[in-house]
Amino acid sequence: MKPKVLLTHPLLKEAMDYLAEHTNLELATSQDFLPHSELVQKIKDKEGLLCFLSDTIDQEVLDHAPALRAISNCAVGVNNIDLKLARSRGIIVTNTPNILTEPTADLTMALILATTRRIVEADEFCRQGRFQGWRIDLFLGQGLQGKTLGIIGFGQIGQAVARRAQAFGLKIIYYNRHRLSPDKEATLKAEYRQLDALLAEADIVSIHASLNPDSDHLITRDRLALMKKSAVLINVARGAIVDEKALAEALKTGQLWAAGLDVYEHEPQIEPDLLSLKNVVLLPHIGSATYETRLQMSLLAVNNLLEALAGKTPANLVKDS
Ligand code: DGY
Repeated sequence: MKPKVLLTHPLLKEAMDYLAEHTNLELATSQDFLPHSELVQKIKDKEGLLCFLSDTIDQEVLDHAPALRAISNCAVGVNNIDLKLARSRGIIVTNTPNILTEPTADLTMALILATTRRIVEADEFCRQGRFQGWRIDLFLGQGLQGKTLGIIGFGQIGQAVARRAQAFGLKIIYYNRHRLSPDKEATLKAEYRQLDALLAEADIVSIHASLNPDSDHLITRDRLALMKKSAVLINVARGAIVDEKALAEALKTGQLWAAGLDVYEHEPQIEPDLLSLKNVVLLPHIGSATYETRLQMSLLAVNNLLEALAGKTPANLVKDS
């Protein structure tokens, strides 16, 4: 008999067809938003769950899922799942690592360029019919050559950003929970700094850490105050790593020059003060959103779930689950 599976939101078609072929599948909703109460109702008789970072898999969900054996998160981050509780109930949790690195690093560069060169503001200016001719001081931005990029979280994505950034003439400093070996630092041409020192030194700070109790609000109001007034903050990791209210204030008062954000503290809500600021570029969590990557993520998430439900150890088991 095919296992009963709940898919919270649609996957790309190829992957969803494959999942439907091998399971007794229920799609919870085709809308963007799935109320938590509906998730709790629909999980009741399911053995497998394929979910996304926007689904909170907490005690209430797990308490209503007596038959649940596996959770496949279609994301690399797993901060939306109560991992400890899942583990204590013998539920396997998987994710989709390794395949998001390049597109997320690409999008980081897009945000660095969009903020430093004021691309979005300039585009709006043209569309409003306000371009009257070349001017020496029109949309002055900041050059990258010779500036310093501070990377917080120097795993695969942080390192992929470093490689790209060097081609733009940026010097790389990084902060990570575990310092890299001298050989690795030399290969990547990256120098280690303590967090506060990095914030004070960098012209651009880019966040690539995972969200966990240690990194929650890692960038506080006080830490934002350490940054240069000309500095730019980029976050494509998880919104809650930054105190979003404090960030909006810093951008408003000129304590910070600009920010580029793909993620938000209370996603999908965005701090209202940010919406009216010109010196922030806001994206709807599209770091991995290339067709190729989202298809790979979808297929990997399906494979992970099918392997787990077949009693195999899935390749992408979340180790501390
Ligand atoms: C992830 O997988 O954690 C990303 O944030 C989704 O793009």
